[in-house]
Amino acid sequence: MVTPELSQNKSHYSPMAKASVRNKTSSWFSDGFLYLGGALLAFLLVWSVWSYAVPNNFDPKMNTKSAATTRNQQCVQEKPEVNLRYDPPEQTFYDDQELSYSIEKPIRNWDEKRKEWLKHHPSFAPGARDRVVLVTGSQPKPCKNPMGDHLLLRFFKNKVDYCRIHGYDIFYNNVLLHPKMKSYWAKLPVVKAAMLAHPEAEWIWWVDSDAMFTDMEYKLPLRRYDYKNHNLVVHGWEKLIYQRKSWTALNAGVFLIRNCQWSMDFMEKWGSMGPMGPDYAKWGQIQRSVFKDKLFPESDDQTGLIYMLYQDKNLMDKIYLEGEYYFEGYWVDIVPTYDNITEKYTELEKEDGKLRRRHAEKVSEQYGVFREPHLKEAGSGKGSWRRPFITHFTGCQPCSGDHNQMYQGETCWNGMVKALNFADNQVLRKYGFVHPDLLDSNTVTETPFDYPDEGPW
Ligand SMILES: *[C@@H]1O[C@H](CO)[C@@H](O)[C@H](O)[C@H]1NC(C)=O
Repeated sequence: MVTPELSQNKSHYSPMAKASVRNKTSSWFSDGFLYLGGALLAFLLVWSVWSYAVPNNFDPKMNTKSAATTRNQQCVQEKPEVNLRYDPPEQTFYDDQELSYSIEKPIRNWDEKRKEWLKHHPSFAPGARDRVVLVTGSQPKPCKNPMGDHLLLRFFKNKVDYCRIHGYDIFYNNVLLHPKMKSYWAKLPVVKAAMLAHPEAEWIWWVDSDAMFTDMEYKLPLRRYDYKNHNLVVHGWEKLIYQRKSWTALNAGVFLIRNCQWSMDFMEKWGSMGPMGPDYAKWGQIQRSVFKDKLFPESDDQTGLIYMLYQDKNLMDKIYLEGEYYFEGYWVDIVPTYDNITEKYTELEKEDGKLRRRHAEKVSEQYGVFREPHLKEAGSGKGSWRRPFITHFTGCQPCSGDHNQMYQGETCWNGMVKALNFADNQVLRKYGFVHPDLLDSNTVTETPFDYPDEGPW
């Protein structure tokens, strides 16, 4: 129970001393009381009130001596925003025997249930509206492609990097949660389970394992989706659904879905077109009869989603087709632009010292804000020199290696390596290094002070 770090603290402080040091962390405070066994519950109640009452910022009135002592004893001032050790005994949906995480059993009154949980866990209330959990995953077995698992690891690392920089949680799933919901349908059971596991999050963000962040600075414009209460965001174009009737009118490999009852109902309907539904075979035929460019016979999640929008245009009130930036973008269009983009961004940094100032990774978002005015001219999406937000290696199949015959294998593999290093360079910068050659994953060079002000880069 007691971690070495905490027991070390314990030898320096008695519980009362802890209580008197108001700027100490909650975990120290709690640790002392944990020894009082029976008083645990009472303590938790007091603690939750206490952690609220304590102001968030460092107290400037604290005298210099005690401030110095604090610094010596603990170099990190831990101030958890949320209380991870508080789950009161009041009943919530988690105590309901009937409630199932399975995609087969619908959830009712989810909005009320979620609200009730949040009411009992008030430390999660601030910021709840912008809380995002990124969900991704891959198959339970090793990849057939000998370097498949290595690539998936790097794709995952990329997502972890993005989430760390922006303060999002991430969940990687590698089991099939419903035996019939395989391949592209596997994400729906995971997204549903993630909603139940994360009542504190407003959004679940599904990102396919073969998609990666190639703009580490860009932050989801969540307000845009709140403005008219949209509940589902996908990259797509209305015209391609209703006029062109194409199965690539949108891409279901990346989507943002609000953690609410509407989404539960929507996924129930969407999932019923999949292999767990009674009319799976029929759905495949229907999809192909409307969306003629769909080549394979089985019903798939993407065409299913397009079909739902096609049948009921009112759904557009709830589903936001994002086409303004690369919420997800096709790698074939994007990969050839990385070199020019790198050059443009380097120029910007040469011109504006503020952009190239060294900084802690934690404050990276601020530098994204600083850069924004310089990107006004860049445009976004196709033909733009703004870094593409997400590059999606559709058809490359890194895990199985069975890439679409349209592409030569080398194109896929080199494209992925280039994209991974392009993204990694944005992360490594904060650690003082850079890959000079995007196709060479092994080599990094140290970035000199004030990089890239001097020298040919
Ligand atoms: C990169 O920039 C050069 C010079 O401006 C241009 O000729 C070239 O077409 C650009 N490449 C791409 C892929 O956009």
